[in-house]
Amino acid sequence: MKRIAVLTSGGDAPGMNAAIRAVVRCGAQKGWQVFGVRDGYSGLISGSINLLKTRDVGGMIQRGGTILGSARCPEFRTLEGQQIALDQLKRNAIEGLIVIGGNGSQTGNYALSRLGFPVVGIASTIDNDLYGSEICIGVDTALNIALEAIDRLKTTASSHKRAFLIEVMGRDCGYLALMAGLAGGAEAITLPEIETDPEELAATLLHAYEVGKRHAIVVVAEGAKYNAENLIAYFSKHHERLGFEIRATILGHTQRGGAPGAFDRILASRFGEAAVDCLEKDEYSVLVGLIDGEIRTTPLAEVVAKKKQLDPRLINLARILD
Ligand code: ADP
Ligand code: F6P
Repeated sequence: MKRIAVLTSGGDAPGMNAAIRAVVRCGAQKGWQVFGVRDGYSGLISGSINLLKTRDVGGMIQRGGTILGSARCPEFRTLEGQQIALDQLKRNAIEGLIVIGGNGSQTGNYALSRLGFPVVGIASTIDNDLYGSEICIGVDTALNIALEAIDRLKTTASSHKRAFLIEVMGRDCGYLALMAGLAGGAEAITLPEIETDPEELAATLLHAYEVGKRHAIVVVAEGAKYNAENLIAYFSKHHERLGFEIRATILGHTQRGGAPGAFDRILASRFGEAAVDCLEKDEYSVLVGLIDGEIRTTPLAEVVAKKKQLDPRLINLARILD
């Protein structure tokens, strides 16, 4: 009987629980014992590793967050921390580890694999900045939360003939902002990947009023140079000359909270199953992700070395449609 462990790390993402559930149940189906690690790499270091039975993961496919808890663990960035984690895994006779998380978490996972431990990663982050998966667990739900906010703000913006900035998460990746802007029909989008001229942005908003629009929506990436704070500061400074008012809504962690949508529940379940299959086939040090609509694996060495790029065709489409 194989003994494997699963943990969730970094920023949580809607659908993580569905992935844990799939790992536990697919592992159990093979007759394995599956252990849950509390609070990401912190729990590995402290040895917080407990057996999960199939009933322990009942009634959780619809639950947001992660029942295992997640954490950012600076100690695990050091070789000493990784060595302690490795010792804990060995002490608990764990033979394989599945890490559900984003860029940083998979970098940590790769570090463990370089110490010789059999690991598999599952692509999970609302930022969608992970090389090796076109879409990660949580992205679709986060995007729909942003979209609902945009739709709501548009109605009040129209009533008052106002411009609104809506800041979305994504760290230094503009994926969420680009897709939310496209789907929400934004007048403009600011991205970390592309320089924004605030004067050009102001001209775009003025043009929207000139052609008879009653609202102007700008979706702003938190990682853009001109995020909500900096744009508001710029527009306030030049308020008299520009001649319009702008209000800002920062969506923040609302995008990570709440129940996962159908897409994320299914994606997470498929990723969980595939990760267990990898451990069964002794296919280690890989990330399970979605490529060309199929569940595929990519070596973690490649995942941590490469940067995922925004699709220039989508950037162009957003420009045409705004
Ligand atoms: P995410 O996985 O969502 O991108 P973080 O970047 O915060 O989140 O990473 C989560 C955790 O992964 C960190 O707190 C740390 O424990 C671990 N980690 C991140 N980067 C590294 C690294 N370069 N080496 C080892 N561990 C890392
Ligand atoms: O990586 C996910 C994410 O939500 C980013 O979009 C955001 O910048 C960051 O985590 C926020 O981190 P924290 O939850 O630690 O404030």
